[in-house]
Amino acid sequence: MNTKISSPATLLTVKNLSLQFGGVQAIADLSLNTYAGEVLAIIGPNGAGKTSVLNAVTRVFDPSGGQIYFKDQDLTRLQRHQIAKLGIARTFQNIELFEAATVLDNLLLGRNRFFQGHWWQQVLHTPALARLEEEARAEVETVIDFLDLTAWRNAPISGLPYGVRKVVELGRAICTKPELLFLDEPASGLNPEETRDLAFWIDDIRNELGITVVMVEHDMSLVSAVADRVICMAQGRILAEGTPAEVQSNPLVVSAYLGA
Ligand SMILES: Nc1ncnc2c1ncn2[C@@H]1O[C@H](COP(=O)(O)OP(=O)(O)O)[C@@H](O)[C@H]1O
Ligand SMILES: [Mg+2]
Repeated sequence: MNTKISSPATLLTVKNLSLQFGGVQAIADLSLNTYAGEVLAIIGPNGAGKTSVLNAVTRVFDPSGGQIYFKDQDLTRLQRHQIAKLGIARTFQNIELFEAATVLDNLLLGRNRFFQGHWWQQVLHTPALARLEEEARAEVETVIDFLDLTAWRNAPISGLPYGVRKVVELGRAICTKPELLFLDEPASGLNPEETRDLAFWIDDIRNELGITVVMVEHDMSLVSAVADRVICMAQGRILAEGTPAEVQSNPLVVSAYLGA
């Protein structure tokens, strides 16, 4: 019998990744792993290449070199719209929601990846489709509850305060039922109270929903509160890796921020 304590499974493998924009090397030969069940934070000064890593993994941009695997799937062979079906979701540094639609409808859109039936099912409104729709609504209501969005449920996005929009975007990503969730600066623009709420939610997203989280974040109080592991990037490369405390006190990290 195998009595070895099993190490956590690797969900995401990034190997020797490069991404170039004209003369700018946004990502330079970067390798990192993400393990199932962890909260990994990516920090680093502006322009370090953090968003570019998320963009390369979620297929917004084609890398100029390197490998990206989600479990056994070679992501570089897939298109952007195929990523969500695999169980990868993300939020954006600049919120991307349907402004004219309500909170509820934006969250229902997050569920779209589960509607894979034929067009005639939609036309005839088959019982199977009706069941899927009912399921989607029930699950979206759970997310509305989970993120305290009940008061905003039927409000159009365009009239919402910034902090609430960020929560809706998080909710939409959760509604896709991802295994791996990328957050790009989830705390930027939030007040201290909203940031504290966010810390609790990220904890719950990992612990209760079982979702692995990779977040790009500047707010070190949030990073220290929720991250198991931190990677600091600068100029497209990894500068340091460790616990939040280790990375924060690393002299290379300190000087990268001072230099920026
Ligand atoms: N779409 C793009 N076109 C041209 N240059 C880009 C693009 N996206 C990012 N860059 C450049 O790549 C570098 C890394 O950017 P980014 O990944 O956004 O950094 P971070 O998220 O760490 O602030 C920067 O020099 C930025 O100007
Ligand atoms: Mg960024």
